[in-house]
Amino acid sequence: MSELAFLNGEFLPLNEARVSVEDRGFQFADGVYEVVRVYNGRAFYLAEHIKRLQRSASKILLSLPHSAEEFASICDELINRSGYKEAVLYIQITRGTAPRKHPFPSADVSPTVVLYIREFKPYPAEWWQNGVDTISLPDERWLNCDIKSISLLPNVLAKEQALRSGAFEALLFRDPDIVTEGSATNVYYIKRKTLFTHPATNLILSGITREVILRLASELGLTVRQEPQPLQRFKSADEVFLSSTTIEILPVRSIDGTLINNGKVPGEFTLKIHQLYKEEINRICGE
Ligand code: PDD
Repeated sequence: MSELAFLNGEFLPLNEARVSVEDRGFQFADGVYEVVRVYNGRAFYLAEHIKRLQRSASKILLSLPHSAEEFASICDELINRSGYKEAVLYIQITRGTAPRKHPFPSADVSPTVVLYIREFKPYPAEWWQNGVDTISLPDERWLNCDIKSISLLPNVLAKEQALRSGAFEALLFRDPDIVTEGSATNVYYIKRKTLFTHPATNLILSGITREVILRLASELGLTVRQEPQPLQRFKSADEVFLSSTTIEILPVRSIDGTLINNGKVPGEFTLKIHQLYKEEINRICGE
């Protein structure tokens, strides 16, 4: 079992993969990416991740050098060659290597294609038992958050500030108090059997996990409302949770020190949604 990369057509050990200092990803964060979970040796919702990669690439005017089928088969080969059953696949495409100038390089410069696989290290079970703490911070990102761009400095700074305050995640708000999403997660609250989350506009990255959650919530009989909602509503909700490919569904215990539902976390529906999500994983990636 080994960490393995695919770099511009070649499979090699991850620690031997090298890109140029003149790669536009390194110079300008000029690229897009995806993170995919592998369960039981199978990639979960891979087609949807590749579709989103294609959408992100098209929005930054980057033409991908591989078809969706080719990307899928590279992912399969990484999984098979690595031998990992529980893993994370990372995909990153940048606008290639060229002398540092702002305009796009000439058409003969090929994009840099990097995929790699790493074993998934489980997070502490305690996070799911007690929920995680969060803080709120102004959303200082650009207006194209629907693009899964590798330009993540505001996200990284927000996450770091959360960690330094002893929290797990920063909930971002804008104009003046509408919660958009977490620094690396989508966020939801439930109040009286209605689930609220920000609509899939240019102000959030609509997660692949989010799409599944909205369907599962409806199946559970929750009303789903994709509407901008102020921070205060999250704080006074019955339940608040986060989602992403790697954390799945994670209950929130507090926001800015305010306990959700007097600290009675995880909430009933958060648990049920996560249970159904695990069943979906089993259905798709099980034996
Ligand atoms: N992040 N919003 C942001 C800003 C994110 O970075 C992510 C995921 C999500 C959730 O998307 P999904 O459900 O498709 O994983 C929402 C990934 C995991 C990352 O950057 O590591």
